[in-house]
Amino acid sequence: MAGNSIGKEFIVTSFGESHGKIIGAIIDGCPAGLQLSEADIQPELDNRIPPQPKIVSARIEKDMVKILSGVFNGFTTGAPICMMVENKEADSSDYEKIKNLPRPGHADYTSWIKYGGFGDFQGGGRFSGRATVALVMAGAVAKKLLVKHNVDVLAYTKSIGNVKLRRQITREEISRNKFENAVRCPDLTCAEKMQTTIIEARKKGDSLGGIIEVLITNVPAGVGEPLFNGLDADLAKALISIPAVKGIEFGAGFKAAEMKGSENNDEFQVIKGEVKTLTNNAGGILGGISTGMPIIARIAIKPTPSIEKQQRTVNLSTMENDSLSVKGRHDPCIVPKAVPAVESAVAITLVDHMMRAGKMQRVLKKESK
Ligand SMILES: Cc1cc2nc3c(=O)[nH]c(=O)nc-3n(C[C@H](O)[C@H](O)[C@H](O)COP(=O)(O)O)c2cc1C
Repeated sequence: MAGNSIGKEFIVTSFGESHGKIIGAIIDGCPAGLQLSEADIQPELDNRIPPQPKIVSARIEKDMVKILSGVFNGFTTGAPICMMVENKEADSSDYEKIKNLPRPGHADYTSWIKYGGFGDFQGGGRFSGRATVALVMAGAVAKKLLVKHNVDVLAYTKSIGNVKLRRQITREEISRNKFENAVRCPDLTCAEKMQTTIIEARKKGDSLGGIIEVLITNVPAGVGEPLFNGLDADLAKALISIPAVKGIEFGAGFKAAEMKGSENNDEFQVIKGEVKTLTNNAGGILGGISTGMPIIARIAIKPTPSIEKQQRTVNLSTMENDSLSVKGRHDPCIVPKAVPAVESAVAITLVDHMMRAGKMQRVLKKESK
């Protein structure tokens, strides 16, 4: 099963299954001299689990990170960093019953076809949302590196089902409010409505999707390697690799298709000695290279596939038609848990590209402990 690493100079490898012993990540290529301990990573893992059992799965994943290598005397050494959490709470009983019945919308059928039925089906195995634990651990390291270079990555929930945050929102509001509610939306009234709509969907045995917006500030101009390694191309690759992500747009995105050139073009101006654009319909990237303006992307997440509502499926052992109601611990909406995963995928890609563009130090300046 190849395909579990991403990046060229800051290379992240993800490993582990949902109900296996551990989930982990290895970072190869992390600059030396970054002060790093479990305490830098743990809060990011804690943020994965919103404090509202009615809108997330009942699995209370108390994921405690351990760093196994690559850190000496409190600083990264430049050697591979291996990090892991133990899967303590796995309950595989519900999966044994449905192992021959692929869940509509999940990867059970495609993984069965590709791996001949050998795949670990428990909890979705390698295709579980828990794979994002590895992403979030590596993302925490990437974010710490980005902070050193003044780059800020901030994601939040923009819509859930048909409840949308329509007003303009400031970066300050996002950082101040998004962890004040279980859906990770910075507008608290809107967050309340989102929460209610998720609970209603769950009561009906159904699930909801939504949109996450990510804002990235202070990426210097000139980062990205077009054609096929453009910054937008690689961000899109990392983001769409998060399970349940179905769409990505940058800046004006799909709306650009309805605009005139005169409306969509971001006009250039010199402001305080620097080249800026007066609008940012490009979302901070032109030709696969950062412009120096904020990078803005929106990510569409589909509704959780595992639902209690009865749906048609097939029995892969008898090759007969069947039906399925998925019981067990599932998130009625993936969006809140995916917010840290989105920030992590973005941070990992940015570190990799900034290193490739020579805009990140390979050995950080020594700081006192
Ligand atoms: C954080 C997170 C949590 C998820 N939780 C669930 C879940 O509880 N139940 C479920 O059926 N799918 C869940 N998923 C989605 C599936 O893993 C995903 O839909 C499946 O692997 C198929 O991949 P695809 O939707 O990208 O095609 C979750 C995804 C993420 C990112």
